[in-house]
Amino acid sequence: MIEIQELTFKYAGAKENALNNITLKIEKGDFVGIIGESGAGKTTLCNCMNALIPHHYRGDYYGSVKVDGTDTFDTNTSTLALKVGSVFQDIESQLVTSFVEEEILFGLENFGVPQNEIENRITSALDSLGITELRHRELSSLSGGQKQKVVIAAILAIEPDILILDEPTGELDPASSVQIFSLLKKLNEEKGITVVIAEQKIMLLCEYVKKLIVLEKGNCVHYGEIRSTLTHQKEMEEAGINCPRVLTLTGEMMKQNLIPSSFSKEDRICLDAKEAASFIKKCI
Ligand SMILES: Nc1ncnc2c1ncn2[C@@H]1O[C@H](COP(=O)(O)OP(=O)(O)OP(=O)(O)O)[C@@H](O)[C@H]1O
Ligand SMILES: [Mg+2]
Repeated sequence: MIEIQELTFKYAGAKENALNNITLKIEKGDFVGIIGESGAGKTTLCNCMNALIPHHYRGDYYGSVKVDGTDTFDTNTSTLALKVGSVFQDIESQLVTSFVEEEILFGLENFGVPQNEIENRITSALDSLGITELRHRELSSLSGGQKQKVVIAAILAIEPDILILDEPTGELDPASSVQIFSLLKKLNEEKGITVVIAEQKIMLLCEYVKKLIVLEKGNCVHYGEIRSTLTHQKEMEEAGINCPRVLTLTGEMMKQNLIPSSFSKEDRICLDAKEAASFIKKCI
């Protein structure tokens, strides 16, 4: 569990707080999305959960972040990394070796994974990302999206309990983005891994996450189950988040009186095209 209490952070030299008085809990087994426009504080929040803040970035830090009861202030990033795997927004900064296989091996050896388990971990991490054929490639020869998959594979191979991913689909094509989210969903459902993911694409979040944190200028303006978050359209819009297309559609239906009065406000909250289709069917 990650427990954040009255967390405020201001980067050294910055005028404004990057995060303001954030209090929230992420339970074991949750699948939580973080959304907010550029500069809202998504990366800063992720880095508070993996202890890069306060240990790597300097600034004014108030409040606390506890991971399974341990205050990140009292631990260090490498100890925590066994429990919390992080995929950074800046993928290049995370690559430490020259070859794909070496990159995955580096983390495994660093964390003392027994030799007899290593081959298995490498093979299954590559396989789950669908990049087995990249195993012997030089990292500098890969595309941005391929590098992103390698970093995710390297983190998965360590088998952390909690995964924190900061816009891991930024360099990926739509099909690969869906592939990553499906994989995360599988890890979450089958292995109980807690997933926290900063992501700008609202439709992907709607389809996959259980809860959503909405950040606006360092403030958490909403945190709740994805379906209930979507009923807070005003806060979402004020935070600069585009309404998912399916909701624009059902909202327009409401304006044009195409939704029977017996339907509640929540009934029109559809998370994907399939739900929208069955909602429209009920209306007609
Ligand atoms: N190293 C830093 N030093 C000073 N200020 C920073 C630093 N990193 C981020 N900030 C500031 O903190 C605020 C939050 O930035 P953050 O990177 O967390 O936003 P974000 O939501 O991740 O944005 P993006 O969608 O562009 O990745 C911004 O105002 C940003 O300018
Ligand atoms: Mg960011």
